[in-house]
Amino acid sequence: MKIAFVSSEVVPFAKTGGLADVAGSLPVELAKLGVDVKVFMPKYYSIDERKYNLHYDGFIGSFPVRIAGYDREVKLFRGFLPGSSVEIIFIDHPTYFHRHQIYTNDFDEDERFMLFSKAVIESLQRLKFVPDVIHCNDWQTGLIPLYVKDNYSWDRMFDKTAFLYTIHNIAYQGAFSKETLWRGELNQELFDNGMIQHNGAVNFMKAAIFYSEMINTVSPTYAAELMTEEYGAGMQEYLKIRRDSFVGILNGVDYDVWDPDTDKHLPFHYNIDSLTGKGKNKEYLLNQIKLPFLESIPLIGIVTRLASQKGIDLLEQVIWDLLSLNAQWVVLGAGESKYEELFQRVAKNYPRKFYFYQGYNNELAHLIEAGADIFLMPSHYEPCGLNQIYSLRYGTVPVVRKTGGLADTVQDWNELNSFGKDTGTGFSFESYSGYALLHSVKRSIQDYNNKPVWKKIQLNGMRKEFSWKRSAEKYLDLYKLAASKRQ
Ligand code: ADP
Ligand code: GLC
Repeated sequence: MKIAFVSSEVVPFAKTGGLADVAGSLPVELAKLGVDVKVFMPKYYSIDERKYNLHYDGFIGSFPVRIAGYDREVKLFRGFLPGSSVEIIFIDHPTYFHRHQIYTNDFDEDERFMLFSKAVIESLQRLKFVPDVIHCNDWQTGLIPLYVKDNYSWDRMFDKTAFLYTIHNIAYQGAFSKETLWRGELNQELFDNGMIQHNGAVNFMKAAIFYSEMINTVSPTYAAELMTEEYGAGMQEYLKIRRDSFVGILNGVDYDVWDPDTDKHLPFHYNIDSLTGKGKNKEYLLNQIKLPFLESIPLIGIVTRLASQKGIDLLEQVIWDLLSLNAQWVVLGAGESKYEELFQRVAKNYPRKFYFYQGYNNELAHLIEAGADIFLMPSHYEPCGLNQIYSLRYGTVPVVRKTGGLADTVQDWNELNSFGKDTGTGFSFESYSGYALLHSVKRSIQDYNNKPVWKKIQLNGMRKEFSWKRSAEKYLDLYKLAASKRQ
C-alpha cells in the first residue's frame, strides 16, 4: 500500500502542537507495517537543511505552480524522518514559507496552503508516486481531495487514489472570503452549490469532509462530540451526513521520545519499578525555577498552547482559590496574550508558589512531565490530547475535564474506586465550571497525601499503553477501506 501523508507540521522539523507529534510518529509506525509512505510538508525558514541532511532534488528541478494568477516556482528538498527510512519531501517556496511563524494572520494565508496543496499533487506527478491514499490533516491540506478530483481530474494517474481526512481540531477550518476562489482556481459552482461554502465563506474543512472517502478524528469520544451542536463548530450536520465514513482513532504516543526511563532531557531516569528518580527530577526542576522543595507539597504542572480550547478561563475563575491550596505550580505556555498576562500576574503575586515560563520550550516540557506530581488539563474540548498520555507514563497524575480524548485516556480514581475498582489513573470532572475544576484539584491533593493510594494511581497510569502500533494498525484498516471505495 502506498500512502502520501501530508501535514503542515512534522516533528522534529516544525511544531506548534500535537499534529506535529502525530505526523512525526505515525508514518514511521506505518512503515513498520510494510506501508510505503512518503511525508510532505512545507519548507519553513526555521528548518535547518544541514542539521537534517536535506538535499535539493536537482533531477526534478524547479517547477511552476499557479496561485493567484501567477506561476510560483517551487523546489523540492528531500530527507528522512530521523532514525527511519521514511522519506519526507519539503515543498520550498520562500515567499510563502520563509515567514516568522508557521501560521500567520497575513492576508495571503489561504494562498500559502493552497500553493502547498497544489505543489504536493504536482510533486506526486513528477515523482511518479501514485498513492492508494492521500492522508490529509487539518484545514491546511483540506483542499487536496477537491483539487485532485476537480482541477487535476485530467490526470488519470489519480483515478484510483482515495482520501482520508483527519480532523485534529475543529476550531481551525480554513474559512476565507470569496476572493479565495479565484486565487486558488476553485470552481465558483462548488461555492454556489455549497460544497465548499459554509456561512458565506469558502471553507477548506467542509470541502475535505465531502471530497474524502473517509474522515476521522483523533479519539472516539471526540468523533461523537463533533456530531453535536455544542462541539461541531458548524460542521456537525456535514459530519452527520458522512457518519458512515467518519470514525475516531485515538492517537498513540512516541515512547522513544516520551519515556522517563530513557528521556534524554531528564537528569534522572526512572521507571515503574522505582520512582526514586522522579523525586530527584522534582527537586532539580524546583531548583531550576527557584521554588522551594518540600516533598509533602504537590507540584502541579501545566504545558499548553494558551488558547481558549484549553480551558484556561476555568482556571481563571478559581485561580485565587487554587492558590490558597497547599500546592506549587509550574506553567509552561504561549499563545493568547490575555492568558499570558494572567499567568504573569499570578507569578508576580505568588513568587514562592507559582512559576510561569512564557514561550515554547521542549526541554522544560519534558522536565515538567517528570518533575510534577499532578498534571492539569481542564480543556473545554480536546480532540485527543497528548500531554495527559505522557503524564500517565511519567507517573504524573492527570486532572482533566472529561471530554474528547481526555475522557478516553484518563479514568477517574474516585469514580472507579467507589465501585470497588482501584484501577483509576487520574481525576476528572464533567461540568465546564471553575468549581468542578477546583473540586477535582482538591481531590487530587488530598490523595497525594495518602501515599499508598497515590502510588497505586501512579502505577495504574504508568502501566497503560498508548503506543502507536495499535493506532497505526487501525489507520491501515482505514486506508484499505478508503481505497476500496475508489475501486
Ligand atoms: P495541542 O495539539 O492541542 O496543542 P496536544 O496535547 O495534542 O495539544 O499536544 C501538545 C504538544 O505540544 C505536546 O507535545 C506538548 O508537550 C507540546 N507543547 C505545547 N505547548 C508547549 C510549550 N509551550 N512548550 C513546549 N511544548 C509545548
Ligand atoms: C490537535 C488537538 C489535540 C490532538 C492533536 C493531535 O491539536 O488539539 O487534542 O492531540 O491535534 O492529534
